[in-house]
Amino acid sequence: MVEFSETFELDCGELDQDHRRLIEMLNEIVAMLDDGKTGDCKSKVQEFVNFSKAHFRREERFLAKAGYPGLQEHCAHHIRLNKKMDHILEFADMAGVNEKARESLKKELVFFLMDDVITTDLDFKSFVEDKRP
Ligand SMILES: [Fe+2]
Ligand SMILES: [Fe+2]
Repeated sequence: MVEFSETFELDCGELDQDHRRLIEMLNEIVAMLDDGKTGDCKSKVQEFVNFSKAHFRREERFLAKAGYPGLQEHCAHHIRLNKKMDHILEFADMAGVNEKARESLKKELVFFLMDDVITTDLDFKSFVEDKRP
């Protein structure tokens, strides 16, 4: 089970809430996979992907409004992650077939969310803090 620790807190209410929600969804997916509910898991993974994409758009709007100088680079990072999510959906398709695919899906999802999504966002944390009155 993955938990949201303070280390990941950006102090941007809406974005932190999104990250928390994504962790919740990830834990739900992992629990489904562990229980062998692979049919339900596919739609949950799709939901996770849709929510991630919506989150990226919210985050980009927030960073644009804040005048973050690394905006373009961060948007490019999000585009790469959108591609990664296509692979995650392929894994989800195979999750019903075998144990190996289920394990790969779990690993991919955890790595994707914790390293690619949440940890990378720490890049703009100090910028946002400095901007705060
Ligand atoms: Fe984010
Ligand atoms: Fe991000």
